[in-house]
Amino acid sequence: MKTIIEPFKIKMVEPIRLTTRDQREELLEAAKYNPFLLRAEDVIIDLLTDSGTSAMSSDAWAAMMRGDESYAGARSWYRFRDTVQDIFGFDQVLPTHQGRAAEHILFSIMVQPDSIVPNNTHFDTTRANIEFCGGNAKDLPCREAGDLDSEYPFKGNMDTAALETLLAEVGAEHVPIIMVTITNNSGGGQPVSMANIREISRIARSAGIPFYIDACRFAENAQFIKRHEAGYEDTPTIEIAREIFSYADGCTMSAKKDAFANIGGFLCTNDAELAQQERNILILTEGFPTYGGLAGRDLEAIAVGLREVLDENYLDYRLLSTRYVVERLRDLGIPVVVPAGGHAVYLDARRFLPHVEPLQYPGQALVAELYLEAGIRSVEIGTVMFGADSHTGEERPARVELVRLAIPRRVYTQSHMDYVLEAINLVWERRDEIGGMRIVKAPRFLRHFTAEFERT
Ligand code: F0G
Repeated sequence: MKTIIEPFKIKMVEPIRLTTRDQREELLEAAKYNPFLLRAEDVIIDLLTDSGTSAMSSDAWAAMMRGDESYAGARSWYRFRDTVQDIFGFDQVLPTHQGRAAEHILFSIMVQPDSIVPNNTHFDTTRANIEFCGGNAKDLPCREAGDLDSEYPFKGNMDTAALETLLAEVGAEHVPIIMVTITNNSGGGQPVSMANIREISRIARSAGIPFYIDACRFAENAQFIKRHEAGYEDTPTIEIAREIFSYADGCTMSAKKDAFANIGGFLCTNDAELAQQERNILILTEGFPTYGGLAGRDLEAIAVGLREVLDENYLDYRLLSTRYVVERLRDLGIPVVVPAGGHAVYLDARRFLPHVEPLQYPGQALVAELYLEAGIRSVEIGTVMFGADSHTGEERPARVELVRLAIPRRVYTQSHMDYVLEAINLVWERRDEIGGMRIVKAPRFLRHFTAEFERT
């Protein structure tokens, strides 16, 4: 069968409020052309993020009812810890309320003012947490990542030769940790190959530097390995996941992605001494080490979600349904990052709106048009997100100008995606009339969340 079906039935629904174009003009102006400032109920299809927006299963909801809300040593904690250890394989597990809390705890111990932290591409919170500790977050994407048309299946890879050069230039003593993000969200949602993970691990170990994985979308990454990396065709996805983490010394995880949870995260390490230091901060900022900012019921939902996400039928559907959107866009001649990643579709705003200068934020302009056209909420990943130096405030064009349409897990059906495709095509057909944006107000860190814009 060629038809992609959602491998689940819908038992509970949430109405979508339909708005008119005139209403959306007013709403977007009131939100200062920043969709983060819109009310969610004014959005028709919300592709702002795949984070915390998943539909949980009946099993996960049932598990929540079992949540043990004891302050210390709850049953739910042990269920969560055992599941994390079984899949990720690390000795030490610290629950956190979301991924960035894990990052903050890790970096506040590891990162010094002169530290350099390489990654394939840092996600914005990862970069900001490193910079907040005075460190320097360094992106080392592979060569193919820069070519938005390259069909290379592992465009999330790190440039390991560049990593070795960096270590030789700055000295391993200035690099307290090496990270890789799977899948590479800011780089286009592309996966990282097992060979690349193995090579990063080899380099890190020979330099004596801990190697951490930003594991948010580990299951999607593992399924890409199964489908595209020689030698893994017959390996169960859970075994691929276990192998990935066997090469690392720890991980940070946002359970809001590949654990189907609406909140949660964790930090893992094999270093008991480091974990002790981390627990001290955890108690100060998140909570006691057996709940870390989460309710017992959240720990239960995550434990169920981590197992469910490794269902290979689900993962095949997930990758295929994202690919469906990317391939239709390509058929329409619309510039989109290929090959399809797991969790999102990335429009290339630089080529969509070539007449809009980078410092007039073509990505943000396209985000605004998608909302006006059809009530679709998306996010810019370009100069608004990455163009300002948080130390000096200076602005420079980002490496790429992308618009991300992130697909919440198990939330939208194929007809919702057909609606999105139609809307993008309508904007594409009138692209020549679309102008740029200017920033009216913006904070120093993570400005894209709250920046205010007007049309130029
Ligand atoms: N790392 C990556 C690769 C992420 O994509 C995110 C979050 C985080 C870390 C932080 O996790 O939100 O639980 O604190 N990404 C979301 C997104 C927000 O929309 O891509 P968090």
